[in-house]
Amino acid sequence: MKFKSFITSALLAAVCNAVPAPVVTQISDGQIQAPTGNVVTQIPDGQIQAPTGEVVTQISDGQIQAPTSVASSKASVATGGAAQGIYASQASSEYGSQVGFYTGADAPYKSNDASINLSELATSFGLNSAVNAIHTAAPTGTESGAAAPLRSSLVTGSTTHGPFSGVPTTIGAVTTVTLGLTVPTLPLNPTATYYNTDGKLTKPEPAPYTPAGGLGTNGSLPRYMVESDFDYESITLGLYQEWIELDTFNNGLATFTEEDFAAAGLSNEDRELIRFMAQQEEGHATLLTNMLGHTAPPQCTYNYPYTTVREFLDFNQKLTRFGESGVWGFINHLDSREVGQLLAQSIATEARQQMAFRQMSGLFPMPVYFETGIPQSWSWTFLAPYISSCPANTTRLAWQNFPALHIVNQPNINRWSANDTGANEVTGERAADPSISTIPVEESCENLNVTGYSCGPAISRNRSEPLSFAGKQVNFTWDAPGLAVGPNNSYTTSVNPVAGEPMFVAWAAQLNLTYTPLIKTSPNSGYTYQPAAQNYQGGEGIVNGTMFVALTDTDMFLTPFNLSMINPHVIALGLYQAG
Ligand SMILES: *[C@@H]1O[C@H](CO)[C@@H](O)[C@H](O)[C@H]1NC(C)=O
Ligand SMILES: *[C@@H]1O[C@H](CO)[C@@H](O)[C@H](O)[C@H]1NC(C)=O
Ligand SMILES: *[C@@H]1O[C@H](CO)[C@@H](O)[C@H](O)[C@H]1NC(C)=O
Ligand SMILES: *[C@@H]1O[C@H](CO)[C@@H](O)[C@H](O)[C@H]1NC(C)=O
Ligand SMILES: *[C@@H]1O[C@H](CO)[C@@H](O)[C@H](O)[C@H]1NC(C)=O
Ligand SMILES: *[C@@H]1O[C@H](CO)[C@@H](O)[C@H](O)[C@H]1NC(C)=O
Ligand SMILES: *[C@@H]1O[C@H](CO)[C@@H](O)[C@H](O)[C@H]1NC(C)=O
Ligand SMILES: *[C@@H]1O[C@H](CO)[C@@H](O)[C@H](O)[C@H]1NC(C)=O
Ligand SMILES: *[C@@H]1O[C@H](CO)[C@@H](O)[C@H](O)[C@H]1NC(C)=O
Ligand SMILES: *[C@@H]1O[C@H](CO)[C@@H](O)[C@H](O)[C@H]1NC(C)=O
Ligand SMILES: *[C@@H]1O[C@H](CO)[C@@H](O)[C@H](O)[C@H]1NC(C)=O
Repeated sequence: MKFKSFITSALLAAVCNAVPAPVVTQISDGQIQAPTGNVVTQIPDGQIQAPTGEVVTQISDGQIQAPTSVASSKASVATGGAAQGIYASQASSEYGSQVGFYTGADAPYKSNDASINLSELATSFGLNSAVNAIHTAAPTGTESGAAAPLRSSLVTGSTTHGPFSGVPTTIGAVTTVTLGLTVPTLPLNPTATYYNTDGKLTKPEPAPYTPAGGLGTNGSLPRYMVESDFDYESITLGLYQEWIELDTFNNGLATFTEEDFAAAGLSNEDRELIRFMAQQEEGHATLLTNMLGHTAPPQCTYNYPYTTVREFLDFNQKLTRFGESGVWGFINHLDSREVGQLLAQSIATEARQQMAFRQMSGLFPMPVYFETGIPQSWSWTFLAPYISSCPANTTRLAWQNFPALHIVNQPNINRWSANDTGANEVTGERAADPSISTIPVEESCENLNVTGYSCGPAISRNRSEPLSFAGKQVNFTWDAPGLAVGPNNSYTTSVNPVAGEPMFVAWAAQLNLTYTPLIKTSPNSGYTYQPAAQNYQGGEGIVNGTMFVALTDTDMFLTPFNLSMINPHVIALGLYQAG
């Protein structure tokens, strides 16, 4: 490991159940259950599926319906056009089809892979065709059409990193008059009744090709500003997240050498991707600042958990996971649709960053059908421990910091045998701390070149021996509340007074919250078994990828749009490296 001596260049700029109407089927994920004829099946919400073994699985819409096979109908459509000779897709069948039942789908593709003559590849790359073009340049300064400035455009100052060692000048989350300890459940909104029975329009269209309805579609001017305390606190949290990403992406590039990256299998082109991702964060930080106004927090000082490139990558795939999931958790609850629109367009980029860091870590890029959403207090819990201090007068947050849930046998992504992971094989105590990469070479997958066992950077990697699997025992320890965390150690971890003893492990992944019983082995340790629940019958397992686990005193039924109601019952919160 070669470190450059302490970071010289860096970031300045740091300014900167209701009973529905008779024909309405209420389904939490919007999926329409195909009615037969005009009959619409009414599904009671809040159904709890009978537990398999010890696993208590809840389903949010009670829907279990085998659709008619889409694959077979596609195949029969495709058969019609297939009588035109031998196609490339048939030629490849000697390697075995990837989709066993998908037959009769031969298509007239060119088969060119066998005919490439490599000695004919280009070898000189000088001037080529001059295409039609004009001279044009982006307007700048006060010119018409010039863009607004970036809040943090240049990396020109010096940075410091590491833990905070001072005394906080203020303590605790932003708060005001509090009306209760929990938010009670209410009946279904009486206006939530729309159901289309015949596929025709039910109301006049305001204009051609313009079905009635939608929010922000009546011609009123958009206002791209937060519209409530909820919006303000959510976007401020998002800005704290963008700032650390901007710094950490740059930090890896600044503190590891080209050789360090090469040893981790990453080229200069890959480093360029990381550099560009940091620049994306400049844009995101500016956007969120603009939607907040002059109290938008500036960049802070951070304390990172990595000492190798592999650990840097692992940290980033975790950091961007809770950054992305944190936004999915609140984006549709925002009062301002305009803010939600722009935020969605930035979080789509963050989602790509998360996948790129997984690929650089040799993890399967996206092992889930659905990315999950988590409450703001969850992402703040994960983020705060990595912020060591913020400048005086930095706007503070209203979200909760939960006690940390430590996964003792967190699978080490750097091992070819995840089963061999020892206790606490992570670089530290914080939830997103990466797996230790400095393990014996014979145990490491990093430089292996064996399909199913290698974990060097790749578009995709199979793991013959999975990181985790249904039924695996997962051991935990957890912190008591009352610890100082976050910028200037000025926030305190807490548990809502309504929460009782921890009884369950809540697994938040994909569209689902699945509970398993917690077996306590001491007041602050215990274990459970990874659940086998599927998001849809016959679909993949819910628990996969980088996901979230909480200790709770209840197995209350929650779905993606009311997940934050779990917060008063959360006793500790962790991040689980499934896969
Ligand atoms: C959360 O929403 C689901 C409907 O999707 C409902 O069945 C459940 O009761 C709600 N939970 C609470 C605690 O309100
Ligand atoms: C997962 O969530 C989806 C969408 O709400 C639901 O249809 C499905 O039944 C859930 N699966 C389980 C096992 O709870
Ligand atoms: C490949 O291209 C080289 C250079 O044009 C030629 O000499 C050679 O015969 C070609 N090989 C085949 C198999 O076509
Ligand atoms: C237009 O729609 C918005 C919500 O998107 C609503 O607040 C506003 O009252 C509507 N304006 C008119 C004139 O109906
Ligand atoms: C602190 O923040 C408040 C509110 O944003 C602002 O009015 C005040 O000028 C700031 N003070 C300093 C010293 O920056
Ligand atoms: C946090 O600590 C830093 C470094 O000691 C200090 O400059 C800053 O003013 C502190 N921030 C607050 C809000 O106290
Ligand atoms: C998990 O906990 C169980 C029961 O306390 C123990 O037998 C087992 O060795 C632990 N496994 C790991 C990997 O720590
Ligand atoms: C990992 O542990 C599980 C559970 O004991 C076992 O079934 C599996 O075979 C182990 N994997 C390997 C590759 O030994
Ligand atoms: C990996 O193994 C394959 C098959 O043995 C070989 O073609 C390839 O060159 C090897 N790659 C490296 C980087 O060693
Ligand atoms: C990759 O994993 C899948 C699912 O486990 C398996 O069916 C497939 O054969 C594996 N492919 C390779 C190349 O190992
Ligand atoms: C997790 O995803 C990987 C990659 O798609 C897959 O091979 C594995 O079987 C999945 N694990 C579970 C428990 O579904």
